[in-house]
Amino acid sequence: MECFPKEFMLGAATAAHQVEGNNIHSDYWVQEQLPHSQFVEPSLQAVDHYHRYEEDIRLMAQAGLNTYRFSIEWARIEPEKGKWDEAEIEHYRSVLQCCHDNGIKPMVTLMHFSSPAWLISEGGWENPQVVEWFAAYCRKVIEELGDQIEYVCTINEANMRLQLAAIMQKYMKIMMGQNSSAENSGTGAKEGEVQVGLNLNQGRNTMIQGMMEAAQAFGISDPRGVHTFVSQCTPEGDLLVMKAHQAAKAVIREIHPDIQVGLSLSLHDLQVLSGDPSAAEKEWEDEFVHYLPFIAEDDFLGVQSYTRKCFAQGQEVQTQDGLKVTQMGYEDYPAAIGNVLRKVAKEFKGNLIVTENGIATDDDARRCEFIREAVRGVMDCMEDGIPVKGYMYWSLLDNFEWQKGFSMTFGLIGVDRSTQTRHPKESLTVLGQQIQK
Ligand code: BGC
Repeated sequence: MECFPKEFMLGAATAAHQVEGNNIHSDYWVQEQLPHSQFVEPSLQAVDHYHRYEEDIRLMAQAGLNTYRFSIEWARIEPEKGKWDEAEIEHYRSVLQCCHDNGIKPMVTLMHFSSPAWLISEGGWENPQVVEWFAAYCRKVIEELGDQIEYVCTINEANMRLQLAAIMQKYMKIMMGQNSSAENSGTGAKEGEVQVGLNLNQGRNTMIQGMMEAAQAFGISDPRGVHTFVSQCTPEGDLLVMKAHQAAKAVIREIHPDIQVGLSLSLHDLQVLSGDPSAAEKEWEDEFVHYLPFIAEDDFLGVQSYTRKCFAQGQEVQTQDGLKVTQMGYEDYPAAIGNVLRKVAKEFKGNLIVTENGIATDDDARRCEFIREAVRGVMDCMEDGIPVKGYMYWSLLDNFEWQKGFSMTFGLIGVDRSTQTRHPKESLTVLGQQIQK
């Protein structure tokens, strides 16, 4: 296979909070504004995709992409509990229409990390009621906009909460053991252990102050009671995400049974170089296997992978010296996506869509190479009969990489944020060349 077949979904992905700007009713906005925020900078206008989506979608279409994965922002649709903002629904209707007008198939994510601030004040993603609240929001979106949507990813990286719980536990242990005078000395905990932008370079005092400020901002008395989607989670909280997914799926199937529904998972290419495989197996169980009963009946699984993790003698190890790392601090390893697809396909028997894969680098020639190599791996899977139906590069635009701010450049399109001018990169053209014309 030289190219993806015409019907293949080839596109790029974004998430509302990372690109739209002024997402003022969301929990992220609140956390970014705190005096001792864990965010290196606030999202503010982001890259103003809210007003410039037409230009962005047109650029995708011109490059030959046929699919756009973007998220609808719950905090815009329901800025106050139970109150729907009809103007925001109209906004997303226009975005969907713009996709169709440009021959682009929209894939809508209903929850991509950011939640309405009110939800966090009500106990957030550890309150069992989140399931019904999420389902009500999904009902509203699908009732209003469902006839323009063919693919829904209910929850982005539904396994991220558990991955963060593991890394945050380590981080907290180090932090709490640290002498309080060691302000801003850093933690040594590895941000690159998860495939998302984290900032763990705060000192103990700053971290504690930040936690107290967050609790106050959300009106919660105990700082440990702040449960955003991307925060530590309990096993019950992990299960709630699955229940929320299932409730959303039921709502969608009731209203528009023709819509293809799935969720996405953040998966590492876990490689055992030598010795006891049990640590890697345990990680695969946590990242993937234990979710299978909840997604077995889905129409597709969204696979998101950026890098590999290696294990030797039962422990996670750094790979060879001279390792190439991306701006995110993890290994530049384009073969990961193909390897992960193969592994997933052994246990998940439905269609697979790569809903994210990409590289944070300021060297666009490197990005072009990354895309060619990653796409080669995906095509090899398809040649071997694995039902991969789409590939979405992360990200369409350079954007707000969560706690790391705007410093990570994943985009196919660069943005000069002083004027919000778009600068399409060579990699956008290269991605567009990967499909039959
Ligand atoms: C997330 C994105 C993020 C990307 C790159 C994924 O974890 O879904 O929101 O920007 O990885 O880190």
